[in-house]
Amino acid sequence: MSSVTKPAHVFGRDREWAGLVRFATSPSPDIRLGIVSGRRRLGKTYLLDALIRELGGFFFAAADETETAALARFGRALAAHAAGGQYAFGNRNEALKRLFSVIPEGLIVIDEFPYLSRDSPSLPALIQHALDPRGLARQGKTRLLLCGSALGVMGRILAGNAPLYGRASLDLVLRPLDYQASARFWGIDDPRLAVLVHSIVGGTPAYRREFVAGDVPESVADFDAWVARTVLNPEIPLYREARYLLTEETDIRDTAIYHAVLGAIASGNATRGGIANHIGRKSTDIGHPLSVLEDSQLIAREEDAFRKGRSLYRICEPLIVFYEAVMRREWTRLERGRPEAAWSNSRATFLSQVVGPHFEALCREWAMFAEEEVFGELPGRVAAGVVADPRNRTQIQVDVAVLAQEEPGRPQRILSLGEAKWDKVLTAGHVDRLRRARDLLSVKGYDTRDTVLTCYSGAGFHEDIPEGVRLVGLKELYS
Ligand SMILES: Nc1ncnc2c1ncn2[C@@H]1O[C@H](COP(=O)(O)OP(=O)(O)OP(=O)(O)O)[C@@H](O)[C@H]1O
Ligand SMILES: [Mg+2]
Repeated sequence: MSSVTKPAHVFGRDREWAGLVRFATSPSPDIRLGIVSGRRRLGKTYLLDALIRELGGFFFAAADETETAALARFGRALAAHAAGGQYAFGNRNEALKRLFSVIPEGLIVIDEFPYLSRDSPSLPALIQHALDPRGLARQGKTRLLLCGSALGVMGRILAGNAPLYGRASLDLVLRPLDYQASARFWGIDDPRLAVLVHSIVGGTPAYRREFVAGDVPESVADFDAWVARTVLNPEIPLYREARYLLTEETDIRDTAIYHAVLGAIASGNATRGGIANHIGRKSTDIGHPLSVLEDSQLIAREEDAFRKGRSLYRICEPLIVFYEAVMRREWTRLERGRPEAAWSNSRATFLSQVVGPHFEALCREWAMFAEEEVFGELPGRVAAGVVADPRNRTQIQVDVAVLAQEEPGRPQRILSLGEAKWDKVLTAGHVDRLRRARDLLSVKGYDTRDTVLTCYSGAGFHEDIPEGVRLVGLKELYS
C-alpha cells in the first residue's frame, strides 16, 4: 500500500491523516464504515476535503433543509459525480441504493450527517442494512465516512444499542490543536505571546483564519490592541463565536442556565457544589446542564489528584472562559463599540480568571506529555489537587501533581508536586509549601521518595529557590 502524502496546506493532523488514509486505502474486500466527529470549526471538513482531493471520491454535505430538498440535492450531486443528468428519489432507501450502485468502490463522505439523521431517525438502520453482507453495498470496496459535529448525535450512532454499533472500523474524534501546535499554526515564536493568545483562542484552527481574517498580534506590545480589534470587536466573527458555540454544540434553546453554569466555572468554582452554590441552585438542578455540557465536550471533569470522587469541572474551550469572565460583563459597552474601555476594565479579571488558570492547565499538559527523563518515568496521571493541612488549618492547593502509573497493592507514587504562577516570581516560600504538601501526603500513605518539587512560572524564579527544585519557565513550556 503506497502512502498518500498530506497536502502542504493542511497543518498538523499527521496522525489523523494517516488514520484516514489507512481507512480509505485498506485492502479489505468488504465495505467499511468510518465515523469522524469533533466540535465545530476544528477542521473535519477541511481534512476530509483534502482526502477526497487526494484519493478521489464522492463528497456530500447535508444541510438544514427538508427531506425533499435534501433528496433532490443529493440526486443532483450524485448524478453530477456519476455522469450527469439527474436522479429523482422518492425516499432515502432509494437514494442509498443508487449511491452504492453508482459508487461500488472508493470513498464516500457524508458531511454534517446529524442533519440527515435528525429528520430521519431510521437512517442509521437503513445504512446498517446497506452494509449488511447481503445488503445494497455488498458488491464492493466502498469506504463510507460519516462526519458531523453534534457530538451527542455522532456518539449515539455507535452506542451500544444503536444499529451501527460495532460496524465502524474507524472512529476518529478531532480535537483542538495542542498549545504548542497552536503557536506554530499562528506563527508565534514568543512563548509569552503564545500563552496570551492561546488563553483566548485555544487550538481551533478556524479562529486564526476565517474568524479574524489572519490578524495575528505582532508582539506582546501589540496584544492589547489585537484583543480590541478582534475578539472584542462586534464586526469580527470571533466576537459572537462563544455564544454560537454553546447553542450550536448543544442544540439547546434556553441558554440562561448554561451560561450561569459556565460563568460559575469561569469565575473559579470547580466543584459541583461550588457551582450550584454560586448560581443559587440546588446541586441536583445543575445535573442536566452539566451532563449536556460534558457530552458536547465544552466542559470536562477531572478528578482531584488526591481525593477520589472529588471532581473538578473545567471549561475545555478557552474562548468560552474568556467570554464568561470578560465579555459577558462588558457586553453593553462592547455592543456600543467601546472595546478599549471594556478591555481596560477587564485587564485584572483577564489575568486572574483567564490567563492564570489557563497557564496552570498548560503546565499540566506539559507535564502529561513530558519525556521520560523529566520526571524519571512517564506520568500516569496529571491533575490538580488539594491537601488538607490540619496543623495550619488550611488547604494547600497543588497546581500540578504528577502521579506514577498506579500499581495494584502498592502505595501511589508521586513523581512531582508543582506550583504554577503566570505573573509571579516564584520563591523559596512557594517551595516550602510544596514540601509541606509532600510531607502531609507521605503521612497519608503516598510514596514520595522520588517526588520532584517543580516551580512553573511565566515571570521567573527568585535565586533563593534551593537546588534540586525543577524550574519550568516559558521557554521550557514551549520546547
Ligand atoms: N489542519 C488545518 N490546517 C489549516 N487550516 C485548517 C486546518 N483545519 C482547519 N483549518 C481552518 O479552519 C477552518 C474550519 O475548518 P472546517 O470547516 O473544516 O471545520 P469543521 O470541523 O468541519 O467545522 P464544522 O463542524 O463547523 O463544519 C478551515 O476553513 C480552515 O481555514
Ligand atoms: Mg464541517
